[in-house]
Amino acid sequence: MLLLLLAAAGALMAADQPLSFSHAAHIEKARMQCTDCHSGAKTRDNAGIPSIRRCMACHQFIATDRPEIGRLAAYWEKQREVPWLRVYGFSKDAAVQFRHAPHARAEIECARCHGDVASMTVAVPAVVHTMGTCVQCHRDNSASDDCVACHF
Ligand code: HEC
Ligand code: HEC
Ligand code: HEC
Ligand code: HEC
Ligand code: HEC
Repeated sequence: MLLLLLAAAGALMAADQPLSFSHAAHIEKARMQCTDCHSGAKTRDNAGIPSIRRCMACHQFIATDRPEIGRLAAYWEKQREVPWLRVYGFSKDAAVQFRHAPHARAEIECARCHGDVASMTVAVPAVVHTMGTCVQCHRDNSASDDCVACHF
C-alpha cells in the first residue's frame, strides 16, 4: 500500500542518469516505437540499450540548439557511449537468464513488466521482479517452473 502511494506521488526513484532523456518526448513527438531503440525486445534475449549512433542519426539535425543535445554531442565527439545506469536486472550470484523473445511471442506487453514507460522521462523501476513474481505468472500461464528454465 505504501509503495502504491509513493508510486502515485511520482516518488519512485529514477536513477541519476547522465542525460535528461525523455521516453514520452520520443514516443509522442518523434512517434517512435519501443523496438526502434530496444531492438531485441521482441526477438532476442536482451532488449538492448541504444548506442549513441542511434541517437545521433537524428540529433545531428534535430534540436541541435538545446543544451541537453549539446551534452549528447559532446559524448559523440569523444567517441564515447552515454554511460546510462541500469534500472532492471538481477545480481550475478542469482544466475538468472531472462529472455525477452518468449514473452513477446506470448503477447505479454512491455507495460506488464516495466509500467507505463511511454509516459516516463527516464525509466523508473515501476515493477518489482522477484523469483516469486516470475514463478507465479509462469504457473498462472502454464509456462515452465523448472529451475533450469530461468537459471544457468
Ligand atoms: C527518430 C529520431 C530521434 C532519435 C533516434 C532520437 N531522438 Fe531525441 N528527440 C527527437 C525529437 C523529434 C525530439 C523532440 C524535439 C522537440 O522537442 O521539438 C527529441 C528530443 C530529445 C531530447 C530533449 C531535448 C530538449 O532538451 O528539449 C533529448 C535529450 C533527446 N532527444 C535525446 C536523445 C537520445 C539520448 C537518443 C538516443 C537514445 C535520442 N534522443 C534518439 C528525435 C529523435
Ligand atoms: C515478462 C516480463 C518482461 C516483459 C514482457 C518485458 N520485459 Fe524488459 N526486462 C524484464 C526483465 C526481468 C529485465 C532484466 C533482465 C536482466 O537484466 O536479466 C528486462 C530488461 C529490459 C531492458 C534493459 C536492457 C536489456 O537488454 O535487458 C530493456 C531496455 C527492456 N527490458 C525493454 C523492454 C521492452 C521494450 C519490452 C516490450 C517489447 C519488454 N522489455 C518486455 C522483463 C520484461
Ligand atoms: C529514442 C529511443 C528510445 C525509445 C523509443 C524507447 N526507449 Fe527505453 N530507453 C532508452 C534509453 C536511452 C534508456 C536508458 C535511460 C533510461 O533508463 O531511461 C532506456 C531505458 C529503458 C528501460 C530501462 C532499462 C534498464 O536499464 O533496465 C526500459 C525498461 C525501457 N527503456 C523500456 C522502453 C519501452 C517499454 C519503450 C516503449 C514504450 C521504450 N523504452 C522506448 C531509449 C528509448
Ligand atoms: C506476465 C507473466 C510472466 C512473467 C511476469 C514472467 N514470465 Fe516468463 N514466461 C511467461 C510465458 C507465458 C512464457 C512462454 C511460455 C511458452 O512459450 O510456452 C514465458 C517464458 C519464459 C522463458 C522461456 C522458457 C522456455 O522454456 O523457453 C523464460 C526463460 C522465462 N519466461 C523467464 C522469466 C523470468 C526470469 C521472469 C521474471 C523476471 C519471468 N519469466 C516473468 C510469462 C511470464
Ligand atoms: C520463472 C523463473 C524462475 C524459476 C522457474 C526459478 N527461479 Fe530461482 N530466481 C529467479 C529470479 C528472477 C531470481 C532473482 C530474484 C532476485 O534477485 O530478487 C531467482 C533467484 C534464485 C536464487 C538466489 C536467491 C538469492 O538469495 O539470491 C536461488 C538459490 C534460486 N533462485 C533457486 C531456484 C531453484 C532451486 C529453482 C527450482 C526449484 C528456481 N530457482 C526456479 C527466477 C526463477
